[in-house]
Amino acid sequence: MRLNQPVWQEDGGAWHVFRHDDVKRVLSDYEFFSSQRGTTDDPSNPIGASLISSDPPRHRQLRTLVSQAFTPRAIDDLAGRIEQIATELLDSLPEGDVEIDIVERLTTPLPVIVIAELLGVPANERARFKEWSDATIAGSRQLDAGEELTFSDAQREMVKYFSGMIAQRLEMPKDDLISGLVDAKVDGESLSHIDILGFCILLLVAGNETTTNLLSNALYTLHERPELWDELTEDPGLIPPFIEEVLRFRSPVQHMYRTCTSDVALSGVTIPAGSHLVAWIGSANRDEEVYQGADQFQIHRTARNIAFGHGIHYCLGAPLARLEARIALEALFARYQAVHIPSLEACKPVPTSLVYGFESMPTR
Ligand code: HEM
Repeated sequence: MRLNQPVWQEDGGAWHVFRHDDVKRVLSDYEFFSSQRGTTDDPSNPIGASLISSDPPRHRQLRTLVSQAFTPRAIDDLAGRIEQIATELLDSLPEGDVEIDIVERLTTPLPVIVIAELLGVPANERARFKEWSDATIAGSRQLDAGEELTFSDAQREMVKYFSGMIAQRLEMPKDDLISGLVDAKVDGESLSHIDILGFCILLLVAGNETTTNLLSNALYTLHERPELWDELTEDPGLIPPFIEEVLRFRSPVQHMYRTCTSDVALSGVTIPAGSHLVAWIGSANRDEEVYQGADQFQIHRTARNIAFGHGIHYCLGAPLARLEARIALEALFARYQAVHIPSLEACKPVPTSLVYGFESMPTR
């Protein structure tokens, strides 16, 4: 597609963009490509007006508010706790040559626990996170397909739960992100209930499945290339570039959406105002114009990948996701000699084109 139809329209529907340059422009040029999807007062769609679905100036205001909690330094402070969680999860695995689902036992719970602790959610409520997160992704797909949003029971439960948390923090603040949001002011005004709800749900969804998939994709790659396990164990300095190459080669978020604000030309094709666009990050990260031998996995690359997006919406959680991935890999290298996936057929891919990763991955 990048070569022959770099900009392609689905039968009377959305326009798909595949080239690296075009994808970068769509993600970052907010004057022409809007992220806005909902309104600020629609209680049935709290993330429709959240950070990821807003344009400047509202986007800048919201981003300034949460970015303090996600600076590289604030994230580095979490390293000790993330190491502890990774160690506990690995300690709980059975010993010996036993098959386990590494997605269930490590790559799903690690990011869930981290984000739950950041938000200040008690441990016994975390089990419902995955269900809520899946339900929200399903809802977001309805919106993108132009369908009417049907609110599932899981989503209703999630909204009720976070509303209760917000009310509690209003009464008695704690040292967590929700209390910080309740207390925060944008241009002198407090955030509305829906704004705070939107943030909580966005972080829950954006921070979990993506990181799970990065980790699972890294393990899949190590199964395919067992020699890398030894190389990375011997030289841990190679772990960060390895993670970057996994992000490029198997991008956990495959595409993002935008809407054209006016007629605009990309790769010589004019897209009319009001069109919905799908910017294919996964394709951009395999563009030969930018990455030589793009279909080969090579740790030592100089060109940066765009797995975390580009421009003002660049992933807020990128330092956290990288840190979690590094710590999880270090913990695995310290304990095991290899990862072995006995049957590739038994690995279940996530059944959507939005994210790339695995729902289950039996390993030994
Ligand atoms: C935005 C990918 C992990 C929170 C984004 C975007 C991408 C992305 C591509 C840009 C969206 C756009 O341009 O419309 C990823 C990947 C991750 C990951 C691949 C893991 C490997 C996380 C984590 C968190 C997080 C751990 C939080 C705890 C966010 C937020 C935004 C965002 C809040 C919206 C930023 C904005 O609109 O200004 N992410 N993400 N992400 N991500 Fe991530």
